[in-house]
Amino acid sequence: MTEPVRLEGLAALSAMAELRSGFVRAVQKIHAQHGALVSLSYPRHGRADGGRVILVADSGIAHAVLMDPARFRTSGVYPRLGPAGCPHRRLREGIILANGQAHAAQRRQVMSSLVPALIEAMRPRIAEICREETDAWPSGDVVDLTPLVKRLLRRISLELLFNETDLELGHEVGSALERHAALAFSLPAVLLPFDLPGFQYGHLMRQAERVEAVLLRWIRERRKHPSQDDLLSRLLGDAPGGAIDEADIASQLWTVYGASFHTMSAALGWLVLLLAQHPDEAQRVLESFAERTDRDGRPPRAAHEAILEALRLVSPVPFQIRQAVGEVTLPDTPIQLQDHDVVVLSALVINRGPTFGPDPMAFRPGRWRELDAAAHAELLVFSGGPRACPGRAFTFAVLGAALEAVWRTWRVRLAPGAQLEYRTSITVSARRLPVTLSPQDGAFASVRAKGPALHIAEALRG
Ligand code: HEM
Repeated sequence: MTEPVRLEGLAALSAMAELRSGFVRAVQKIHAQHGALVSLSYPRHGRADGGRVILVADSGIAHAVLMDPARFRTSGVYPRLGPAGCPHRRLREGIILANGQAHAAQRRQVMSSLVPALIEAMRPRIAEICREETDAWPSGDVVDLTPLVKRLLRRISLELLFNETDLELGHEVGSALERHAALAFSLPAVLLPFDLPGFQYGHLMRQAERVEAVLLRWIRERRKHPSQDDLLSRLLGDAPGGAIDEADIASQLWTVYGASFHTMSAALGWLVLLLAQHPDEAQRVLESFAERTDRDGRPPRAAHEAILEALRLVSPVPFQIRQAVGEVTLPDTPIQLQDHDVVVLSALVINRGPTFGPDPMAFRPGRWRELDAAAHAELLVFSGGPRACPGRAFTFAVLGAALEAVWRTWRVRLAPGAQLEYRTSITVSARRLPVTLSPQDGAFASVRAKGPALHIAEALRG
């Protein structure tokens, strides 16, 4: 049984304030100070016993919570704001908030586009898109890799998952959606929910209207030109002009399209940066591509391990949040939760635990040769249980092909004096990736970096 550290009164309020002003960094700090299980009790309007947030960085407890969605339900990808029925609230209603049979049905729809045989068949086209896009990247001057990476991964998602050929429309949806997701996590919008000129909350509500409108446009265009066997046609029930509510489909699309490219762009950005800052590992990956003998399109072992290690060290989805349903005991702890108490599963901290070796903060892909099955099971990159990410295999296929295309073509070097910043919305991602791209010659060298991103991964320093 794991005993929690209980923070109450001022200590809990100050921890909550830290969480609100920078969630990822604060979670790391609180666990470092107080251990793997921390209970924060704070006064809450309408509840005599107050409210509670439990921070969990214990893998056993986290997995037990994830396996029990009936007692620990999801609470949506972003905080609930705005009047009932507004577009911002409507867009939250996708698969993440669904429960029971509705969730199972939506999950089947998504999974049917991501079965292993389909992913295998997609590999050649994924590789082709990766080559086309990365061949067009500019060499020479300092360039921000972030928009280029996003463009690549949006296109893969659009073409392969949604069978969308109107890339202009797809990119328009993608950027509107990203702006909305960023605003949904903006602290001023949450703390000052007033629709007054200049207030972030107003920007958020308007952006939600824009996103919903562009998603509806996408749905209507597709109904005019129906396709088959892709995620969008499945969401439309394979019935052009059918009776399914378009606002419901818009919220499903918001979640599924967003979930596919936000996460993979964040992951590819960190992967490229970590390799650029670790010349020996960069060299190993390059050699592994040069030496590959199999032609099945899978990344060679060194590349696969680099991908896994980057996902472990800077997990793109750094935490999962659950809410207690009624009075429940937090598994393997003496903590009695009340209805609506919040459980934060600190995936980023769990993925840097002692299971992963004596140097968990280092970027060392070779560790995956030493680690046993227990470490693979403990890794919390794609969540777990009945709501685990259905996009795992697709992600590995895409990141493998993207890394190969980038590494065979370009030697990536961080720009001198680069300031590395990060953004937390649904994912944790690099705000900018200022690099120079030169034709690949294997002359890898790290560059001393600075900036807030080093607080979440010192291994980026170089
Ligand atoms: C680096 C890549 C990715 C990472 C790190 C990632 C991570 C995650 C995580 C942690 C969850 C569960 C959240 C929770 O338990 O609350 C999740 C759910 C989900 N992911 Fe991914 N994901 C990735 C790529 C993808 C891709 C490519 C798709 C493609 C469609 C996708 C679709 C989804 C969907 C639909 C869900 C909701 C599943 C459900 O509620 O049943 N993800 N993802």
